Amino acid sequence: MRTKFTLFGALAAALLLCHVALAKPPEFELAAKRWMNKAEFKIVGGQDADPSMYRWQVALLNASVPNVFYAQYCSGMFITATAVLTAAHCVEGLSEKEISVLVGASTLDGTGKTIDIRKIVLHDGYNSSSKENDIAVILLAASTAIDPVTWLDTNHEDKLFSENLDIYVSGWGLTDPFSSNSKSKSLKDAVVPMQTNDTCNRSDAHNKRVLESMFCAGLHVGGEDTCLGDSGGPATYVADGKRMLAGIVSWGAVCGLPKKYGVYTRVSRFSDWLREAISR
Ligand code: ARG
Repeated sequence: MRTKFTLFGALAAALLLCHVALAKPPEFELAAKRWMNKAEFKIVGGQDADPSMYRWQVALLNASVPNVFYAQYCSGMFITATAVLTAAHCVEGLSEKEISVLVGASTLDGTGKTIDIRKIVLHDGYNSSSKENDIAVILLAASTAIDPVTWLDTNHEDKLFSENLDIYVSGWGLTDPFSSNSKSKSLKDAVVPMQTNDTCNRSDAHNKRVLESMFCAGLHVGGEDTCLGDSGGPATYVADGKRMLAGIVSWGAVCGLPKKYGVYTRVSRFSDWLREAISR
């Protein structure tokens, strides 16, 4: 995977310029146009995840597509028995009836159970161009017996967050950004080092587009990253042997390119907002 991406390095500049025009996967073409915009760009360079580590991860489905593999377009994670955290860009402009939440399926083969949505709580400061406040909570119509993921709050952030911390990212998105049919049936994960916002904001990286309420993770050489279809999913790390949620898959530039680190919503900055959202 690494060598492949080094070879692709020369194409990086050109691809970056036209990444908006990059071919979208045919399965997404079956869906309405606005669904395509939701999943801009799966795990690249990763491996099959151990499902027992990600029981709280769910697939967001386009409710009008019968086949779950084609219907999956984003991810989310349980933060309480009835609340799923995701990215704002995965649910913006969509009604509760247009989305369903698939739980208990690490493979998109029809296993698991879909749950209806009672209410979508979108952060009202979400900015679709800067991706600021790319966070939303989906309140479910029924509760589940799944243990939620522990999310990181503001008090812990500075002690635990540091450069090179191992960040685990997981999803069913594209495994190859240059192949529109590389979506994964099985949940994949990858481990990527956390980067400082300063590094991530350099002109050859994301050039000042990374805000305080975001963080970056990825290898300088690229090759491992989240990609189209992974959005709204988790970026976790291990503390005291326990998985802690640090981020939500938000945006990037193509996937896995050198220095184009993946960008995540910094969940610790939203603990007050989250507490209010889950109380609704
Ligand atoms: N926005 C994408 C989605 O909707 C995820 C982007 C992550 N990209 C990246 N290169 N890390 O699925």
